[in-house]
Parts: sequence; structure tokens; C-alpha cells
Amino acid sequence: MPASPLSTSLRTHPCGSLRAEHTGQTVTIGGWVHRARDLGGLVFLDLRDRAGLVQVSFDPKTASAEVCALAASVGAETVVIVEGVVAERPEAMRNADMSTGAVEVRGSSLRVVGPASTPAIPVARGRNEQLAAEELRLRHRHLDLRREDLQRNLVLRHRLMQRTRRFLADAGFLEIETPILTKPTPEGARDYLVPSRVHPGEFYALPQSPQIYKQLLMVSGYDRYFQIARCFRDEDLRADRQPEFTQIDVEASFVQQDDIVDIAEELIRALWVEGESSFPSGRVRRMSYADAMEGYGIDRPDLRYGLMISDVSGVFRGADFVVTRTALDAGGRVRGIRIPGGAALSRKQVDEIEAVAKSAGAMGLLRLKRVNGVLEGPPAKFLGDGAVDALGLAEGELGLYVAAADHVSHAALDKVRQDVAVRMNLVPAGVNEFVWVTDFPMFERDAVSGALTAMHHPFTSPNPDDVSLLDTEPWKARAVAYDLVLNGTELGGGSIRISDPVVQSKIFGLLGIDDETARTRFGFLLEGLRAGAPPHGGIAFGFDRITMLLAGATSLRDVIAFPKTTAARSMFEGAPSPVSADDLRDLHIKLES
Ligand code: AMO
Repeated sequence: MPASPLSTSLRTHPCGSLRAEHTGQTVTIGGWVHRARDLGGLVFLDLRDRAGLVQVSFDPKTASAEVCALAASVGAETVVIVEGVVAERPEAMRNADMSTGAVEVRGSSLRVVGPASTPAIPVARGRNEQLAAEELRLRHRHLDLRREDLQRNLVLRHRLMQRTRRFLADAGFLEIETPILTKPTPEGARDYLVPSRVHPGEFYALPQSPQIYKQLLMVSGYDRYFQIARCFRDEDLRADRQPEFTQIDVEASFVQQDDIVDIAEELIRALWVEGESSFPSGRVRRMSYADAMEGYGIDRPDLRYGLMISDVSGVFRGADFVVTRTALDAGGRVRGIRIPGGAALSRKQVDEIEAVAKSAGAMGLLRLKRVNGVLEGPPAKFLGDGAVDALGLAEGELGLYVAAADHVSHAALDKVRQDVAVRMNLVPAGVNEFVWVTDFPMFERDAVSGALTAMHHPFTSPNPDDVSLLDTEPWKARAVAYDLVLNGTELGGGSIRISDPVVQSKIFGLLGIDDETARTRFGFLLEGLRAGAPPHGGIAFGFDRITMLLAGATSLRDVIAFPKTTAARSMFEGAPSPVSADDLRDLHIKLES
């Protein structure tokens, strides 16, 4: 019986697995020199492997002079193989911070098997020592990946992936791979294109998602599909967006929204259990897109704190105040949030909050507060006696309002809400507020051209109650689309799909995709829908995002082994990089400069 699944012909035990129960055993361990201490003859090496750290001592009384001299000479990050006997440490020498802290290995032999140059960034750090700059760490990712934090994150990622597979396979989903060299998938980002050598002037696109393929698998009768799918999107990057990322992609046949919501919720619950984080008992609450926008100004509301937006247009209607009158006359509204205790904020603090609103597009913030029962603030003199109660302001509350068209006040108040929550310490630690946002509109308008674009993607089914609106006021039609949001982060989104080719053609028409373009871009999907398509729908979760949240990390880069920077570069291997003139010629590509 091997001592551990990690035992091999070169080592009997992983370093981090040794415990008091191994006392007296002769072991062979291999690992990286984490720290070395030479106490003038007695040498201590902390050896590290995936399982953890163990202390090895080389004592001139029990090990040869050569072995002790070699131990005294090895540098940090050298890989060594050590043979020795496990001994219990005296009570006073135990280290409660190390899982192996009750024992040490008394080394009798030492072999350097992987000499190491001086590490470019430290792997072992003192308690209060800062991490090296991220760019440097990404450049030397092989060293950074040796750090316990990143190892823990990648082990968690592995566990979540295995849990996902087990859960979905047990629920009857088949894991099926779909192509990476493919046709463009419309998920709203730019495509990464790959030139074809054998077909001059033609390009493959890397998939933004497996969307069309998973629908075709339903058409082909596979009933329940999943894939832990790599997706590629050339879009502006942020801490929670990578150009290549991983989705848990799911599709099922003969389903309605509730079937997908149920199974998705159970999957997420299983992952939250695996990640040892709290998941609410009972069902996840649901909120319509309209309610989310009205109450929070955003379709992924953070529900860990209140600060709900309310419409106070009625209080200002008729007031001879030019700011609000102009906005109301133009069809806008006056909306804002009430901040308990906000009356005590300094003018400078409120100016800072206003700057946040302005950066999101608002002209400014109207300020009103209730102090000793009286309404104070620049607009107060334009309002009648009952205004303080009509605004719902309690004693000590500050109201911050935006008078503008909805799209402006949504964006500004969302940012104000988030700023105030952090500023006033209103975000409780360790709380997970999940919410399904449902009933998204089918379309949104392009800000510049005014053309309709798909809010989710063009294959999303209209709400059956709104089908007639497609012929009259399509922008009012709701979709059967849903997103799962946690604490303001979109974990995943999906929809019930259009399974009727006539409806699909109509939606393409509304999106300005003519028949010819529809045939060239999506002909294979339309053909599939005409070949007998079951009602179907699905969802995709951002696997990196889920791992990031469960790891307590703040960047996707901390849960991806070899991530890209926000400039879409790999610092470690140096991609993208120029290619030779010969390669370009083979691909029939000429560069402009
Ligand atoms: P969507 O585009 O909403 O839907 O993507 C699903 C989830 O993928 C994650 N995600 C990302 N994660 C990291 N980096 C990115 N650049 C990135 N972009 C998206 C998010 C998001 O919620 N085919 C549809 C799903 C469906 O309808 O079934 C789709 O891709 O967590």
C-alpha cells in the first residue's frame, strides 16, 4: 500500500503529509527548499511540495559531514531529495502554524536533483512582507504558482470542476465537446480570428461560447448537454473579465425557465458547499429586470445592503426649480437614495459622491437632508411644507437625487449606491445574496444608431405574452431570459431558445440581419430548427468568476494558472508575438506596415 496517492518510486511520502503517526519511520521526501537556516553546524531546511511544508534537520551527530555541508550550501527553491527518520519535535519546538509542525525529518542523506538559480521573486515570505508587483509575478508565473495562495486556489478550481462534472453527469447531462475553430458566435464581443492556410482569405473564429452547437445538440436529440467550455472574447478587460475564460455550459430539451433555474440553482448550491461558503436555505429570490433597474439602477443588483432608489418626481412636480423642471419637462424623472445618518457627512464627502455620479454621466446630485425635523439643502426652498415627509426622509437622513432621463439616473445612482455602501461600511462581511434577475427585454437600442440589438443573444425566445409586440413595439417585448447574480456579480445567464424557425427569422429581421446574411451566418442553425427542434433552453456560468468568489480572490488572474493581463497579454510566455514573414506568406496575410 503506498503511503499516499502521491508516493512514487522516488519518494515515500509528500513533505506536507508527515504527522506524529509517522514517528520512527524512515522516509524519502522530495521538495523545494523553502527556507534554510544554518545554526552553525545544525542545519534546518523547510522543504515544500504540493502537500505542504516539513522541517528537515541535518545534525552533525547523525548525518555525515558531507551531507551537512551540502545542506548548508543549498539555496532557496533548489529541488532536493532527502532520506531521514521522522521524529517528534520537543514540545517547545512544535509549530502550530504548520500542519507538519509536530514532527521533523532527521535527514541522513541529501541529493540535489534540481539546482535553482536565485529566484526572481521570493516564494517564501515573512508574515508582513508584501507580494512582488503583479506584473513581475505574472512574468515569473512558474515561481508565483509555487505560492501557497495560488496553489490553494488552483486546488479549489480542480475540486469545483470535478464537482460540476459529477453533479451534471448524475443529473443526466452528457459532456460533449464542441469545436474551437468555428464560425462567429454572436455574444456581443469581437471575435478572435484564425486565418486558414488551405483556404486563402478565409478565417475561423474562436467561439465566444458554444451557443449554436449546444442548440444543435438539442436538435439532434442529445437531450441534456454540458461542457466545461473555453470561450474567447476580444473585449475590454477588467478584473472579472479575461479574453479566454471558462464557462459551465448547459443546455436541455423539453424544458421551461423553471426547469433550468431549478437545476442551475442546485448546481450552484453544490459548488458553494464544495467551496465551503454559505448558500441561503430555501429558494433563491427572483426579481424582474424592470424592478432591478427601478430599485437599483442595474440589472445585477448587490442586495447585501439597502439604499434602494425611489422616484420622488411627484415631490418636485410644480416646483419652480429649474434643474428638476427641465428634466421633468423632457420626460425624465427625479430619483434618488436616502442615506441613514447621511446628514452627518461633510460637504467634501458629498462632493466626492457627486463626482462619482458625474463620472457616470449625471449633471450633478441634488442634496436634501432632514435635520431637527427641517428640510435643508439647495432645492429645499422650492418645495412645499410637506416635502420632508413626502420624500420619506427620516431624521438625520440625507437624500441624493438625480433629475434626468432614466438611462442617466440608472447609471449614476447605481454607482452612487455602491460608493455610499462602501463609504459608510454598509456591506456586511460573509453574506451571500443571490438573486435571479428575470424578464429581460428582448432588445436594447444601440446608443449611436438607434438600431435594435439583442439584449442576451439573437436565439433567445420572446415571452409568449409579448409576441404580438414584435410587430408593433418590439423594444417593449420581454425575453424568457434569466441571470443569476451574487452580491452584484453576474455568475451566469441563459434563456429559453427560439425553436421555431419562423420566429427565429423574424428576430433576425428585427435585428437588421437580412435573409442572405442570416443564411451565411446562421444557416446551419436555421436548417437545424427546420429539421424538428424540441423546446429547449439553457444557461452558462462563468467558471472562473465562481472560483474567484469562492476563493475569496478579487481578480480572475488569481484563479487561472496562466492568465492574461488587462492588455490581453501573457507575460510569462510572451503572447501575442510577431510571426515570421514565411508564416504570414503561408497564411496569405500581408501586414500594412
Ligand atoms: P454570457 O455571455 O452571459 O452568456 O456568458 C455567461 C457567463 O460567462 C461569464 N463571462 C466571462 N467570464 C470571464 N471573462 C469574460 N470575458 C466573460 N464573459 C462572460 C459570466 C457570464 O455570466 N451562450 C450564453 C449562455 C446561454 O444563453 O446559455 C452566454 O455565453 O459569468
